[in-house]
Amino acid sequence: MSASPVRLEREGRVAVVVIDNPPVNAGSAAVRSGLLEAVAAVAADPALEAGVIIGAGGTFVAGSDIREFGQPLAEPQLPAVLAALAACPKPFVAALHGAALGGGFELALGCDARVAAMDAVVGLPEVTLGMIPGAGGTQHLPRLAGVAKAIEIACSGRRVKAAEALRLGLVDAVAEGDLRAAAVAHALALGGRKRPVSALPVPADPPEAVADAEKAALRAGKGRPPVVAAIAAIKEAATLPYGEALANERRMFQALRQSPEAAALRHLFFAEREAAKVPGLEGAAERPVGSAGVVGAGTMGSGIATCFADAGIAVTLIDQDEEAVARGLACVKQGYDASVAAGRLDEAEAERRLARIHGAVDLASLADADLVVEAIFEDMALKEAMFARLDAVAKPGAILATNTSYLDVDRIAAATKRPQDVLGLHFFSPAPVMRLLEVVRAAKTSPGALATALAVGRKLRKLCVVAKVGEGFIGNRLYAAYRRQCELLVEEGALPEEVDAALESFGFAMGPFAVADMAGLDIAWRMRQRLAATRDPRERYCAIADRLCERGRLGRKTGAGWYRYPPGARRGEPDPEVRALIEAASAAAGIARRAIDPDEIRGRALATLVREAERVLAEGVALRASDVDLVLVNGYGFPKHEGGPLFWASRQDRARLDAATARLA
Ligand code: COA
Repeated sequence: MSASPVRLEREGRVAVVVIDNPPVNAGSAAVRSGLLEAVAAVAADPALEAGVIIGAGGTFVAGSDIREFGQPLAEPQLPAVLAALAACPKPFVAALHGAALGGGFELALGCDARVAAMDAVVGLPEVTLGMIPGAGGTQHLPRLAGVAKAIEIACSGRRVKAAEALRLGLVDAVAEGDLRAAAVAHALALGGRKRPVSALPVPADPPEAVADAEKAALRAGKGRPPVVAAIAAIKEAATLPYGEALANERRMFQALRQSPEAAALRHLFFAEREAAKVPGLEGAAERPVGSAGVVGAGTMGSGIATCFADAGIAVTLIDQDEEAVARGLACVKQGYDASVAAGRLDEAEAERRLARIHGAVDLASLADADLVVEAIFEDMALKEAMFARLDAVAKPGAILATNTSYLDVDRIAAATKRPQDVLGLHFFSPAPVMRLLEVVRAAKTSPGALATALAVGRKLRKLCVVAKVGEGFIGNRLYAAYRRQCELLVEEGALPEEVDAALESFGFAMGPFAVADMAGLDIAWRMRQRLAATRDPRERYCAIADRLCERGRLGRKTGAGWYRYPPGARRGEPDPEVRALIEAASAAAGIARRAIDPDEIRGRALATLVREAERVLAEGVALRASDVDLVLVNGYGFPKHEGGPLFWASRQDRARLDAATARLA
């Protein structure tokens, strides 16, 4: 039998219950049993007057063990531990450091007091995992913070730092020195008195404050079932007797944790951890990156420079002439001004970040940079020439990265004498906002260079997914196939607004035609022109997008694309001119247009994504299925609650899906 992950130590009259379940002290069944035994031991021992619960290692309890949520929960369950704490005549203090999240925070809320280290964060991320808290979180949090604040915290799932937690009353004290000693002292100071959170009244928040919090949470959470349930459970804290509301919370938790949405979100949680594991990097030495350069001060380049500045890395932003550099810097400043105006950043911090970015026109200014990202025009010849020049000025060992979204990184690398240091860093727009970063491992990229790029990506707080070289890597490759299928649907009879509506109803943030208009139609147009010479003449080609581009309809920026955008319009409007153009294109292709229902639209668009994803996997462009899911969810608006295209596919009737993909061929 393995040793219990919970042990009881003594400090005079205080029992220190240590949870030791590496790496993050997840609250597994063994931890819960150990806690029950420890609480019983404290209750039974007359030499003890109080208990402290503390985590070994770097954290308190990062949460319940997420792996257990897909199965029947093993006994004892967390509410039994909380009931034992409540029934124990002696008070318990939770000593929090690192993360006290989900079930970990609920455990702390089940104690009589909480002492936090400066580095502690607390929170209830269950909603982000498709559930609600199931062990009193929705009942205890509002008793401390009020209903409105509890709704905001639980529905966003955000991590509340120690200082704010203290201000909100979520913790009773913040320990500046030794946490364990402070918690023991706090336990003794309670003088044996119990102070359960459940006994506190729920503060009377003004109804408008609650309504506002509710509205904001529903909007941010897109009205998903876990958000709705969390709001309902929290509001019950103020309207129902404690025991009844607690039982309702548990019931909702049990139902939601077994929902397809929760399964999808758990899949994505573990997918993110898997993505960080890249074969072939064992023992690779990461190089320090203290300064960076970005070449190309357009929207993308200035966004990438902002990412570095945000992460505390000094960056030089280069473009051909002073004017372009000034435009790039102005764009960066505009971004920071907007963050300050929205209250996301204070002015002093924005100043500090801005001060990390320097403009220059001379590539030689990059001589000292540890890493350079090229973000110039998407053209192979230009990129090859740029990399030859970068090769000449960059110091030995500097990483040279391209932000290309489609082009062959091997060819770009071959323009240098150091292909081992060349790779792709494909940022998504807007770069400071989008979390996804495709890290492209070219044929000759060395393990050290890749490991360094991944470390930098993490420092920029990006979700890094490694891809191999291949037209469009993972994301744009899948998306191009998907978009093409959507255009074929239009050629056969659907209208852009019908396709967009069908896919938005599946959960995509935006339909493909609205996305195309927002991104600009010219990039894909250039790509099609580039590929025209090598296109298989037997392949069906839909020319509608080309016709739009030829008419100068390049999307939102030109006031017209698949839709028209009258001045001030928030959304595009269907345009009779586009409809006429589509009907003419169908006729020219000899297609009799027919009505296409939303199910067929969704079925074909999704089957296309799945088919292309399977190819990307077969070719080794992606390391694993879950990486493809992460890319589509984090870079292309695929609904999180469906877990990504391959997770979605794994939940479909396989025969039907195979038939659908076969029809596409
Ligand atoms: N249940 C099960 N396993 C968990 C876990 C949990 N609640 N939290 C983390 N882990 C695992 C991870 O899967 C990873 O395992 P691996 O090494 O086998 O891949 C390991 O613990 C380390 O986690 P990781 O996220 O890579 O470490 P980190 O130091 O970057 O971050 C945390 C630590 C605690 C901030 C982060 O793990 C986290 O946010 N965890 C989830 C918290 C949560 O949502 N809890 C509520 C559950 S209801």
